[in-house]
Amino acid sequence: MKEAFAMSTTAALLTGTPLAGRVAVVSGASSGIGAATALRLAELGASVAVLARRKDRLEELTAAITAAGGTAITIAVDVTGRDAVQDAAAQVADRLGTADLVVNNAGVQLISPITDLRQDDWQRQIDLNITGVMNVIGAFLPHLTTAAEAGRPADLITTSSIAATRILEKFSVYSGTKAYISHLTRLLRVELGPKNIRVATIEPGMVDTELPSHVTDPDAGALMEGLLTEIDPLQPADVAETVAFIAASPRHVNLTEITILPTAQAV
Ligand SMILES: NC(=O)c1ccc[n+]([C@@H]2O[C@H](COP(=O)([O-])OP(=O)(O)OC[C@H]3O[C@@H](n4cnc5c(N)ncnc54)[C@H](OP(=O)(O)O)[C@@H]3O)[C@@H](O)[C@H]2O)c1
Repeated sequence: MKEAFAMSTTAALLTGTPLAGRVAVVSGASSGIGAATALRLAELGASVAVLARRKDRLEELTAAITAAGGTAITIAVDVTGRDAVQDAAAQVADRLGTADLVVNNAGVQLISPITDLRQDDWQRQIDLNITGVMNVIGAFLPHLTTAAEAGRPADLITTSSIAATRILEKFSVYSGTKAYISHLTRLLRVELGPKNIRVATIEPGMVDTELPSHVTDPDAGALMEGLLTEIDPLQPADVAETVAFIAASPRHVNLTEITILPTAQAV
């Protein structure tokens, strides 16, 4: 896995600073897709608050952004705690202002056969991929509403997965959480689109990140690691560029559901 805390523009489609003046929040920003997204949004001009539990990783990331001339703050938070995320939203308001670009990205994938009854793994996925996502929405929706009412672009972008729609053995609970996110996006759009808040979800295929390393079932973990070496997977920067493109679109344009796959990934 190539970890990218240096400015990486290998997948760059956008140029200049189209996100200047935007205040972004990225959850799950201590590694993988979230870290690359925070870097790219900062590079394109946004001020960025980075959220995750590993404070040292976040501080490394904010230092890299600051060294490159950007603005970033670290907020170490476990997004499964509702009060803690509310506190994070207050900190963003104090230190950066009203957030208008929320990347609701933290997630965990703990695949295993359902008959193994790994209920702790089921719970962790539900707690983070569903409750954590809702905690971020609950804390930052008032920011987005304020931004939209002021005539600013306002984006709620959540990381789902192709697992939301594919039928994949051993993925049942993870896929269920991602199906929740994808359908939630469609439902939120109905309510928030008329308030000029754009709602989007990205459904990536295989991205080269830490994600498989958390799998507790050894066979499933090996399966994921093996798949990553068989094809040329997406890099976190590829997904980051997609997030940036959604956010940089004109305010009246809402790209809502985007699937992004490695070219060689068959399913
Ligand atoms: N990699 C793929 O192939 C792929 C494909 C489709 C979708 N996705 C989705 O993409 C998103 C990002 O995953 P990734 O691939 O970039 O994996 P990753 O490198 O493991 O990133 C997961 C991030 O979530 C954070 N996180 C975990 N538990 C948390 C908690 N309780 N509170 C706050 N943050 C927490 C982690 O940071 P800390 O440990 O520091 O808290 C980390 O920053 C996930 O939603 C995943 O489901 C990934």
